[in-house]
Amino acid sequence: MTNLKIHRDADLLAADVARQMAEAARRAVDQRGRFGLVLCGGSTPRPLYGLLAKPDPQWALPWEHTHVFWSDERCLPPDHPESNYRDARRLMLERVPIPPANVHRIMGETPDPLQAARAYEQEVADFVKSDDASFDLVLLGMGADGHTASLFPGSPALATRGRLAVAVEPGPQARPPVQRITLTLEAINQARQVHILVTGRSKALTAGRVLASHEASARDYPVARVRPTGELWWHLDSEAAGRLPTLIAESLRPLP
Ligand code: 6PG
Repeated sequence: MTNLKIHRDADLLAADVARQMAEAARRAVDQRGRFGLVLCGGSTPRPLYGLLAKPDPQWALPWEHTHVFWSDERCLPPDHPESNYRDARRLMLERVPIPPANVHRIMGETPDPLQAARAYEQEVADFVKSDDASFDLVLLGMGADGHTASLFPGSPALATRGRLAVAVEPGPQARPPVQRITLTLEAINQARQVHILVTGRSKALTAGRVLASHEASARDYPVARVRPTGELWWHLDSEAAGRLPTLIAESLRPLP
């Protein structure tokens, strides 16, 4: 089931997602004694990470029982300014009581990305082996080209089967243009909940096209192939939702 929430601005979007994460975490820990969380990269989640670092009961996560993974990572050292791990660490992880062993970062500094992908895949497999889903909650962003994680349009990784994580070449619009390690669609779609966070006018056309017609856009936009067995939540701020009415109306218009 696809759920769509439109928020007035990016800060209200972050607060709502933080509350949903806290609810999912409480349920996961009650039922399975742990919360498997996947963080995404890019700039969109930064307000969310800043909120989760604050000791607010609205979104206090059970950090001692939370395991953190990443949807993808750039093949860069962990202290590089464009490392997804570095962003999450400085905004959130170094400010909360999460046991270091519960932080499962992708070793982007490994000289051989294939080896880094295999190592991360094993860490994911070890975590999910005792569970009927991959993760409890996966956060994803979206590029204006419709990529998500590091699954870029036209990438061979989109057809990968039987893998949880792979090494990929950057798409033409990837910034920074470096090799990446990414979860596969298979790993993402086994999650109990996936939350896709999209803000800003530059993404309105792509978000509108995907939400107006998931099937038709699956060929062009990898994010349209995120179809979890669990719940799918799209969170748009008002700018990113700006093209929705027109595009949905067009998709509903009877064919001539
Ligand atoms: C990455 C991200 C990527 C990101 C989108 C959106 O490593 O770049 O995982 O998938 O979510 O590119 O990026 P922004 O949030 O910066 O727009």
